[in-house]
Amino acid sequence: MQFKSMVLSNVEVSPSYFRLRMTAPPTISGSQPGQFVMVRVNPAIDPLLRRPFGVFDLGTFETAYTDCGRQSFLEILYKVVGKGTALLSDLHQGDHLDILGPLGKGFTFGEPAGEKLLVGGGVGLAPLYYLAKELVKGSKVNLFAGGRNKDDVLCITEFERLGVETYVATDDGTLGTRGLVTEVFEQQLAKAGPNAMIFACGPFPMLQAVALLAEKYQVPCQVSLEAYMACGVGACLGCVVKGKNHSDSTPDYRCVCKDGPVFDSKDLLWS
Ligand SMILES: Cc1cc2nc3c(=O)[nH]c(=O)nc-3n(C[C@H](O)[C@H](O)[C@H](O)COP(=O)(O)OP(=O)(O)OC[C@H]3O[C@@H](n4cnc5c(N)ncnc54)[C@H](O)[C@@H]3O)c2cc1C
Ligand code: FES
Repeated sequence: MQFKSMVLSNVEVSPSYFRLRMTAPPTISGSQPGQFVMVRVNPAIDPLLRRPFGVFDLGTFETAYTDCGRQSFLEILYKVVGKGTALLSDLHQGDHLDILGPLGKGFTFGEPAGEKLLVGGGVGLAPLYYLAKELVKGSKVNLFAGGRNKDDVLCITEFERLGVETYVATDDGTLGTRGLVTEVFEQQLAKAGPNAMIFACGPFPMLQAVALLAEKYQVPCQVSLEAYMACGVGACLGCVVKGKNHSDSTPDYRCVCKDGPVFDSKDLLWS
């Protein structure tokens, strides 16, 4: 689905990190956690390509301007890294955006009885918030959040308000434990009960480490990947990653946009 959207707010929540809330059609409520949207950051030709962002949050708010009185909204949480995200950070309430989505395959929830272990690095926390919001309805949820420093650890209070137990690690020790989030995660994973499930999003090396731990402790694990995307719908093959059966003689490629961005960690080649 492609839709026009109006910016409701665009707030810097940490240095270089913004939370952008925009209007969306009511059908957005059918989005699965882990799906993403392709945002046209500028009506002009440059930058031409849309930029992909995970769905951070969805909801409705009271408004006097629509017939039914309630309007749906969509939120993304983004980091300013280049031209497109810099343009996004300049948007104000009332500005308009062109959105394509929700796209891709999201997370599957598993049995409610099992403990849900969420691992996020930096802006990888973005899709985990909407996921946590759904999972807490039936399961115990723990979040392991990592970053280079305290500014990279985002929206922890929002997760805690949902009832999520949070563990934080930063490389420089400015928030939580000093070190890698995967170290804190492994300590808890070793104690996890049966039916536990892992959901991870963040930089590739972090996902690789989480996938190895999942294998070591035999816990099902889903990872949300990032890749450069041009079309977002499986047409350009610009976003492929190697699948578990890949070799030089038998290529096995998966499109992050169409086959993912969420994959079972066992379906990918990590080396
Ligand atoms: C499925 C998916 C979901 C994503 N969700 C989020 C999100 O919720 N929040 C968020 O902040 N970012 C997210 N990203 C990454 C985001 O799309 C890029 O940061 C953005 O496209 C950069 O655009 P730019 O024009 O600012 O930077 P560009 O000028 O295009 O690039 C600047 C730098 O950003 C990096 N970069 C660009 N594109 C990507 C990319 N796709 N993945 C990783 N690094 C990239 C490159 O290292 C480059 O040096 C997601 C990416 C994917 C594929
Ligand atoms: S971005 Fe074009 S195939 Fe995935």
